[in-house]
Amino acid sequence: MKSIYFKFVIIYAIIIAVGFLIFGTVLNNLTENYFISQKQTQLVREAEKIATGLALWYITGFLEQDRLRFEIRFLRDYLNASILLINKNANVILNSDEQVYIDDLNLRKIRDKVFGGEIAVKKLLIGDIIKREYLVIGYPVVINNHVVSGLLLITSTDEIRQTLKMYNRIIWLITLFEVLVVLIITYALTQRIITPIKKLAQASRKIAEGDFSQKIPISNNSDDEISELVSSFNYMTEKLENLETMRKSFISNVSHELRSPLTSIRGFVEGILDKTIPDEKRDFYLTLVKEEVIKLNNLINQLLELSRLEWGKINLNLSEFKIYSVIAEELIKFEKRIEEKNIDIDVQVDEELVVKADRDLISRVIHNLLDNAIKYNKVGGKIYIYSEVANGKAYITIQDTGVGIPEKLQKLIWERFYKVDESRSLENGVGLGLSIVKEIIKLHKQNIWVESEEGIGSKFIFTLDLK
Ligand SMILES: Nc1ncnc2c1ncn2[C@@H]1O[C@H](COP(=O)(O)OP(=O)(O)OP(=O)(O)O)[C@@H](O)[C@H]1O
Ligand SMILES: [Mg+2]
Repeated sequence: MKSIYFKFVIIYAIIIAVGFLIFGTVLNNLTENYFISQKQTQLVREAEKIATGLALWYITGFLEQDRLRFEIRFLRDYLNASILLINKNANVILNSDEQVYIDDLNLRKIRDKVFGGEIAVKKLLIGDIIKREYLVIGYPVVINNHVVSGLLLITSTDEIRQTLKMYNRIIWLITLFEVLVVLIITYALTQRIITPIKKLAQASRKIAEGDFSQKIPISNNSDDEISELVSSFNYMTEKLENLETMRKSFISNVSHELRSPLTSIRGFVEGILDKTIPDEKRDFYLTLVKEEVIKLNNLINQLLELSRLEWGKINLNLSEFKIYSVIAEELIKFEKRIEEKNIDIDVQVDEELVVKADRDLISRVIHNLLDNAIKYNKVGGKIYIYSEVANGKAYITIQDTGVGIPEKLQKLIWERFYKVDESRSLENGVGLGLSIVKEIIKLHKQNIWVESEEGIGSKFIFTLDLK
């Protein structure tokens, strides 16, 4: 695997190496020029002194060869440069080092310059087999404005080259050191990036396999993009985990709700078939079977409705209608149950109040809320229904004097299959009514909430758009 670390290191190493290469070359050239010109000036200065001395000797005539040779050897050791004297014909008349030899062509070139009264400066490659670079200074020895001979100082540039080589070595050592430092720093930096990314990749794989318990620790005191990503990831897994729990409980709830009526139906039908149930009681049990079938049918219908609502497959069929008429229609449907429970209904809804919504869906909302208000009411209780207009919205309230809902559970009643009192489930339905209500209100982009006190009653309030 080509890791990020590897890529970073390669890139940084290349940048540093190229940088130092350029820097090194430039520095090399600068120092070389500097050293050589330094040496050159020094030699020219010496040549001038020696030429003056030689001129004096020429004048005084004491140009004793042995003496001169001795002096010149002394000077050579002192200057670390060979000393040559040439005459007008470019012949070497004196040489402090026999082995230092300049070819005729170059000798003549220097001669031309020096006998023209100028200082010659040349870099020459000298040597029979191994050619080495030498710096050659030619200086005229002048007597009475006449050049009598040429003085040549010749020195190897090896020393300078040696220094430069050392410089080079130092530069490369620094480069190497820099690369090492970068290696370590990038390692530390990329580790900070790579570790969480690796963990994310691992966790994603596990989530894909259905394990939602993945949590990646966020390293404290960091608020960079990586920790942001990690916390989003954790948030996502949490949500997925919730969804998964909901899915599982949904399936178990559905199965449970289906099983009870089916078990009863099976029992009754088997009893009838094997004659355990006597013929005269057959109709009674068949009626029970019918009721269970109706229950099942209702359950399936509710589930289908809920799933259609949740999948957003329902297009709102918006129209303007009087909310009063919908409430009246629904109340009529519950007439029998209201009478049975001896419930008093108090409707204070503006008969002319027109709202804009999906009439069928809103009648479903009112139906479910009334159903609950009757179901969870006490015998001889009351139901108040009233409307208000505020902030450009209609507020519809359905209030009962029933058992009420404990504060802590008020959030949960909107969930599918949630029932406050599980034991009453058989007579009371399955716990889908409010989920459907919530979805319908959500589709309308409106609000619904509950205010309730245990033992006193509940108030369900929802909003609707005015026409
Ligand atoms: N008006 C109310 N008074 C007291 N409790 C209520 C009221 N309305 C709802 N609840 C509680 O909220 C739970 C969920 O209500 P919901 O209407 O979703 O289900 P349900 O009435 O039990 O069944 P379904 O409506 O599917 O026939 C109910 O079981 C009940 O415990
Ligand atoms: Mg209900």
